[in-house]
Amino acid sequence: MKLAAVILAAGKGTRMKSKRPKVLHTLCGRSMLSWVINAVTAAGVEQTVVVAGYGAEQVAREVEGRARVALQSEQLGTAHALLQAGPYLKDFQGQVLVLCGDTPLIEADTLSLLVQNHRSSGAVATVLTAEMEDPSGYGRVIRNERGGVCRIVEHKDASPEEKQIREVNTGIYCFEISGLFAALGQIAPVNTQGEYYLTDVIEMYVGEGRTVNAMLSKNSVEFTGINDRVQLAEVEQIMRRRVLRNLMESGITVVDPASTFVDHGVVVGRDTIIHPFTFLEGRTVIGEDCVIGPGSRLSNATVGNGVTIQNSIVLDSLIGDDCNIGPFSYLRPETRLEKGVKVGDFVEIKKSLIGKGSKVPHLSYVGDATLGEGINIGAGTITCNYDGHKKWPTRIGDGAFIGSNTNLVAPVEIGAGAVTGAGSTITRDVPAGALAVERADQKIVPDWSHRKKKK
Ligand code: UD1
Ligand code: CA
Repeated sequence: MKLAAVILAAGKGTRMKSKRPKVLHTLCGRSMLSWVINAVTAAGVEQTVVVAGYGAEQVAREVEGRARVALQSEQLGTAHALLQAGPYLKDFQGQVLVLCGDTPLIEADTLSLLVQNHRSSGAVATVLTAEMEDPSGYGRVIRNERGGVCRIVEHKDASPEEKQIREVNTGIYCFEISGLFAALGQIAPVNTQGEYYLTDVIEMYVGEGRTVNAMLSKNSVEFTGINDRVQLAEVEQIMRRRVLRNLMESGITVVDPASTFVDHGVVVGRDTIIHPFTFLEGRTVIGEDCVIGPGSRLSNATVGNGVTIQNSIVLDSLIGDDCNIGPFSYLRPETRLEKGVKVGDFVEIKKSLIGKGSKVPHLSYVGDATLGEGINIGAGTITCNYDGHKKWPTRIGDGAFIGSNTNLVAPVEIGAGAVTGAGSTITRDVPAGALAVERADQKIVPDWSHRKKKK
């Protein structure tokens, strides 16, 4: 049996007060809409149609390759929205899941259960419902004496008695596609909002004597919709807990989950410890036995085993096993550290390769450089890689010793085992094994301070 999904996402999300369409706001590194698409895909959906309106081009870009986009240029209601997906599914036979783009907590298992329940009951429509502590704003599920569903009444159209009902429509349904779009075409906007309500299809089917079911789900949190930025933050917190729980269950220590921020999809190896105020973002992958944080931000970083990173920022970089980073380092994109490299305090590295066991311990800038193995870079050393027009490379051979406060004016090459004297400005290549010193001879004026005082 085949399964399709339609995600309704044409609304502007006025209460977000945003230029961006609501469903493109992100939680734990991915958009609301992506979370929903992932859930339906994991539930076995073969084709997905997203109904977009406000910011449709942006929405189309976001879902490219994962879903097709149907345009609803005027938001006339949920029935009208679903109708727009009709042409995209005209050759499809089977069941169609309908859900909203602003409920990112929905889980694949719940959707699978709904589909199973629908298929085994032989219903034409199954609506997923939940009991809410505070049902206001939601459509209420009206059942008959035998417990069967009769209809759904929107909050705004509900009588005071109906408003007492705590069983609500989650906005998630499983429909037989056959006859669905014909039925939607018959819905009229006769209600307080003047909208075409998708929920009216339930009453229509019941009136025709067809089987409609409601499946009550236990976990109402999953259906929390996001309407404003307060709810965005609340839902993100729930999401974040989920991500951290998965990490902890797979053998990672998260010292303080409340102050740790990990994007979905980040991979962390066993026995790694994540200290507070740490952000792991994007496609970051971390090995085993690392100590990350406190106060670190890693974005698209690949980190080996046994690495320590304290109070530092690492962007789009590769860090080998047993490296020791920070505190207060800034590793910018395209940095690659081989095994056992030390990058100490107040060091910035950009687009550079640092070979095995080399050390940049304090107060340095290394940019566009290629360093060999076993090198020591003295405190305060910088590569002068930019001449105001172009960036130039610096190369340093294995075992070189760069004295403190050396300026390496690129392009320049320091041979293997060479030494530079502290404070030198090196403008020409230094052969392997040589010493390069570039500074004026020290002058000694005897008894100078004593004589100065006398004046
Ligand atoms: C809807 C349901 C309500 C349910 C609630 C669950 C209807 C009439 N009511 O109400 O029973 O309890 O969801 O959250 O269906 N959308 C479009 N085009 C439109 C209108 C809406 O794409 O013309 C999209 C929105 O972007 C949103 C979703 O459909 O993602 C739901 O629309 P919304 O207006 O928020 O419906 P509710 O009033 O919440
Ligand atoms: Ca509404």
